Amino acid sequence: MGICYHTPMKHIIAPSILAADFARLGEEVQNVLTAGANWVHIDVMDNHFVPNLTMGPHVVEALSNFGINAPLDVHLMISPVADMIKPFADAGADYITFHVDAVDDIPATIKLIRSHNCKPGVVFNPDVPLGDLADYLSTIDLVLIMSVQAGFGGQSFMPEVLDKVRTVRSLIDASGQSIRLQIDGGINLQTIAQAAEAGADTFVVGSAIFKTDDYASIIAALRRAMG
Ligand code: DX5
Ligand code: ZN
Repeated sequence: MGICYHTPMKHIIAPSILAADFARLGEEVQNVLTAGANWVHIDVMDNHFVPNLTMGPHVVEALSNFGINAPLDVHLMISPVADMIKPFADAGADYITFHVDAVDDIPATIKLIRSHNCKPGVVFNPDVPLGDLADYLSTIDLVLIMSVQAGFGGQSFMPEVLDKVRTVRSLIDASGQSIRLQIDGGINLQTIAQAAEAGADTFVVGSAIFKTDDYASIIAALRRAMG
């Protein structure tokens, strides 16, 4: 007692259900959480902001009603954004993230998410610059750096985004606030270490988890690989 140990920042693994078996979604999510995952990452695509169409608030509500208690991390790849915030908040979303280039007013969108008692986050595709992130960083809970172009699961990791991860890590550390730095796209046993080394602390993993048949083994291996 009396000795204060520095606790390392906890690494979060957020399986992307895009790669799960949708016919058994509740069971899949339960299994991956029992196997050691921390959050549930929900990829919302609209065939407008991205050329793919996935799921809406009803799926989030179904997971909430199924009894999933882990944080529900809703990644909006849609435009416009504003009208969909309340439906996802009502459905049980914890984090709501949006692409900065999908909205006209970033601070207003952040405020709107906060007003619905959700944690706001901003997302940057590989070709989207950080812009004035430093100016509004203190108002968000998460920054998501895409390591593939948003739109599809199963793509290859783009190492060129690691510099952007390093820059955001410096900004977050300088802010002194607890803001999560998430990376999404092509994260697997080979790529997770580079992402962790660059400063990511929250890892979205789709195919690398759901395309195996032993979720506990792969999640344990991912944790070992991130160092
Ligand atoms: C891509 C999505 C990702 C994707 C990750 O637009 O945002 O969350 O599902 O899948 P993997 O891990 O297969 O790249
Ligand atoms: Zn995603």
